[in-house]
Amino acid sequence: MSTTTQPSPVHELAPYKELSNEALQGRIEAVRAGMGSRLLILGHHYQQDEVIVHSDLRGDSLQLSQMAASSTDCRAIAFCGVHFMAETADILANRPEKLAARDGLRVPVILPDMAAGCSMADMAAMEQVESAWEEMGELIDTDDITPVTYINSAASLKAFCGRNDGIVCTSSNAAAVLEWAFQRKKRVLFFPDQHLGRNTAKAMGIPLEQMPVWDPYADEYGGNTQDQLRGSRVLLWKGHCSVHQMFTADHVRQFRAKYPDIKILVHPECPMEVVDLADISGSTGTILRTIEAAPAGTRWAIGTELHMVNRLKQEHPEQEIHFLSPIVCMCATMYRIDLAHLCWSLENLRDGTPVNVIEVDAETAHWALFALQRMLDVV
Ligand code: 13P
Ligand code: SF4
Repeated sequence: MSTTTQPSPVHELAPYKELSNEALQGRIEAVRAGMGSRLLILGHHYQQDEVIVHSDLRGDSLQLSQMAASSTDCRAIAFCGVHFMAETADILANRPEKLAARDGLRVPVILPDMAAGCSMADMAAMEQVESAWEEMGELIDTDDITPVTYINSAASLKAFCGRNDGIVCTSSNAAAVLEWAFQRKKRVLFFPDQHLGRNTAKAMGIPLEQMPVWDPYADEYGGNTQDQLRGSRVLLWKGHCSVHQMFTADHVRQFRAKYPDIKILVHPECPMEVVDLADISGSTGTILRTIEAAPAGTRWAIGTELHMVNRLKQEHPEQEIHFLSPIVCMCATMYRIDLAHLCWSLENLRDGTPVNVIEVDAETAHWALFALQRMLDVV
C-alpha cells in the first residue's frame, strides 16, 4: 500500500476537536451540499450513529465493495469504515477501465482517520503468509491449494491470492467462494479469520479434523503434524476478530434459558460453538435484513458489534432486541471515525488538499483486483 504524498493540508485537525457536534454536523452537510454527487460517502454498519447519518450509502463489506466498483459520478470517496475497506474501494474505483473512462483521473479514497485499522487484518502479514505457503509446499502441492483471503486483509494479501490463482471472500459470500474453490482444487488456505473459515466449511460438511489451524508463530508446519497437513481440506489461519471472539456459548445458553422463544442471530466471525447454537448466522447485511423482515414482536439476541445492535434496537422498536454479551463488544478501530475527523478530512478535500488518501500501488492493485473481481463474478 502506498499513501500518496499530498500538499500540506489547509486545515489542521486540532481545532476540529474543539467544535461541538452540532457545528461539525452543519459543516459536514455544507461540504456534502457543495460537492453534490462529486462526493460519495460510504459507511459500514459498525459506524457510530452520528457518523453514519452523513453517509450516502451504507452496507456490509460486500455491498460497499460493489458500491465502490459501480460508482460513476463521484470524483472522491470518503470511507467511513476501516483501512482494508478503503484500500478495496481504491482498487475497485480506480481499476483500469474506470480510469480510462475518466481520462486517467483518479478518484481519491479518503479514510478520515488513518488509525482506523482492523486487528484481525493485522493477524496475517505478507511475510508470514508467503513463508507458510512455502513451508506447506514441502508437504503438499500448492498447485492443489486455492488461497482464499477474507476481505478483512491488507491489499498485499489480496494480491498474493491474485498471483496464486486465489480469490477474496466476504462474510456474505464465503460459502459460494468455497464452493467455487472446491470445484477447481482439492484444498483451501483460508486467512486471516479461522472462525469464518471453520464455520463456513463446517456448514458445507467438511469435518473438523480436515481443517487444521496454521499458527504462523509455531516452529514447524504451523504447529501441525505432516499427516494433518496431508489430510487437510481447509487450512485455517490462526486469526480472529477481537470483537466477535468475545461472544460465548454460555451467552447463548443464558438467553435461551431466560427466554425459550428467543432467536439468536450472530455474525460468522463468532467462534464455532456460538454459531452452532445460533438460529441464524450471517454478514452485517444479513443481520439487518433478518431484523427488517421479522414479524413484529420477535425476540432477538444479536452477536455482532455493539453500535450496529444499538442502532437496530432504535430503528426497530417493534422487535425486542438484546445484545448477546453482557460486556461491551465494540470495534475500537471503527470507532476512530468521528465527526471531527470526518469534517476535517472533508473540508481539506473540498479545499484542494486531500488528507489520508489511501492509494494502493499499481502492482499490488493489479493482482488484488484479479482476486477481487473473481469474487465479484462468483456472487
Ligand atoms: P461484514 O462484511 O459482515 O459487514 O463484516 C465486516 C466486519 O468487519 C465484520 O467484523
Ligand atoms: Fe476488524 Fe473485527 Fe473490527 Fe470487523 S469488527 S473491523 S473484523 S476488528
